[in-house]
Amino acid sequence: MTDRKPLRSAQWFGTADKNGFMYRSWMKNQGIPDHEFQGKPIIGICNTWSELTPCNAHFRKIAEHVKRGVLEAGGFPVEFPVFSNGESNLRPTAMLTRNLASMDVEEAIRGNPIDAVVLLAGCDKTTPALMMGAASCDLPAIVVSGGPMLNGKLQGRNIGSGTAVWQLHESLKAGEIDLHQFLAAESGMSRSAGTCNTMGTASTMACMAEALGAALPHNAAIPAVDARRYVLAHMSGIRIVQMVQEDLRLSRILTRAAFENAIRANAAIGGSTNAVIHLKAIAGRMGVPLELEDWTRIGRGVPTLVDLMPSGRFLMEEFYYAGGLPAVLRRLGENGLLPHPDALTVNGRSLWDNVREAPNYDEEVIRPLAKPLIADGGIRVLRGNLAPRGAVLKPSAASPHLLKHRGRAVVFEDFDDYKARIADESLEVDEGSILVLKNCGPRGYPGMAEVGNMGLPPKLLRKGVKDMVRISDARMSGTAYGTVVLHVAPEAAAGGPLAAVRNGDWIALDCDAGSLQLEISEAELADRLAVPAPSSAPKGGGYARLYVDHVLQADEGCDFDFLVGCRGAEVPRHSH
Ligand code: FES
Ligand code: MG
Repeated sequence: MTDRKPLRSAQWFGTADKNGFMYRSWMKNQGIPDHEFQGKPIIGICNTWSELTPCNAHFRKIAEHVKRGVLEAGGFPVEFPVFSNGESNLRPTAMLTRNLASMDVEEAIRGNPIDAVVLLAGCDKTTPALMMGAASCDLPAIVVSGGPMLNGKLQGRNIGSGTAVWQLHESLKAGEIDLHQFLAAESGMSRSAGTCNTMGTASTMACMAEALGAALPHNAAIPAVDARRYVLAHMSGIRIVQMVQEDLRLSRILTRAAFENAIRANAAIGGSTNAVIHLKAIAGRMGVPLELEDWTRIGRGVPTLVDLMPSGRFLMEEFYYAGGLPAVLRRLGENGLLPHPDALTVNGRSLWDNVREAPNYDEEVIRPLAKPLIADGGIRVLRGNLAPRGAVLKPSAASPHLLKHRGRAVVFEDFDDYKARIADESLEVDEGSILVLKNCGPRGYPGMAEVGNMGLPPKLLRKGVKDMVRISDARMSGTAYGTVVLHVAPEAAAGGPLAAVRNGDWIALDCDAGSLQLEISEAELADRLAVPAPSSAPKGGGYARLYVDHVLQADEGCDFDFLVGCRGAEVPRHSH
């Protein structure tokens, strides 16, 4: 085909001069023959493999299968590593380095001889980081997720990643199990390669990539160790080469329509609150407008059909066997709940064409519309004098009786204060109280850690209390549950009204009305906020300094102010 756009990589490898010599010669030290440089699409495989990100530790094998597909289709694969932010090990929180990883991805793609990129993502933050970086470059790109772990097993029953940790820990504190039983669950919960097997953030973001059209059908749910995961990787390798030939860039996939589909899909799967932040950040890189209220406007009234932990009963293995995300999208589409069925996906077909005949093999796992897990799923956006720029709550993970609640605040100034006092038997708290945690937002923690689902006071757990209203500027793990108000913006450390809450203040939460009110007068609130809070900025320099100076608030996706937008993939000037 003569009318094809010249390959971007030809600006490195395509000239018989000093520069071409340099670019080719050093690559040849890997045993690459001349013909590999001649007009073949160079496919970057952006790999978040790391043994410190256990959820992504099987990614070199996935990369091998992507390479087979790329070679089969006539491309040339080049695998490269980027910063891998693993949720389980990284402190103070993997969210702190999401933007760092996205910068790594963006610069690695733009500065290298790459015509398109396969994004190997798995653990929570790796998916948005890779999609953000790739969106800012806008080359053809396809997401290949690592897939979930097999079901966790404990004494013959299924247990879910993360969710079991929170549950078992509460049981331990309530005296229902002993330490030996608690520790015995460790090896049963994580017994294969892959990401968390609940509908936590990793599974949610894998579903979002698929619903956005940025991954092949079934990418989200095939278990990490299922051979079909490796077939999907192979097919993605074939497809990305064709996408270069079609110049099918990310900007044609990640449109406003795609994000609206994804918001509906998130409600139907009972997805993580973290999706609100990550989708906003990805949209921001693509220049697509997306507001917090879109989650209410578009997501409201969409039932949660997928009965997975933490909201429901099953795990990702069952979800795949039941038909996976295509079965969910079909069900939405058949009921007029897929706003843009004609949205384009990476395989060149529309979202609807991909799913219109998708079978549902288990109506317990992917429920009928008439028998939803939650009638009105999705994410609830709250506003009021306590959260002028919004806060979120996930009704499917909350207790129905607490969705409208008025209670007195029990305030913790920061996470250390919470840890020091929560188990104090003299803490003045009852089941009607509202636990308020400050200074855990993007700047305050820093990195907006997943500490919003504060464990309850042990003395109340022993009385059988299972849930209380909790409010903070933090996030919570997608595997967690409870009546938890998150992402309060502006955060306390940025002078938000949350900083003004004092012990004993009355707070009113009304999820139906979407309101969150601190019941003090405007004048009183202004007076309290006039006293500057002690600075929580990190001492010293380094990346944390950059982060605190440039991070946007939760309603803006917590990206850095200077990273928002698409900068394209124009080839930079020569290096020598
Ligand atoms: Fe990596 Fe849950 S900790 S996916
Ligand atoms: Mg998580």
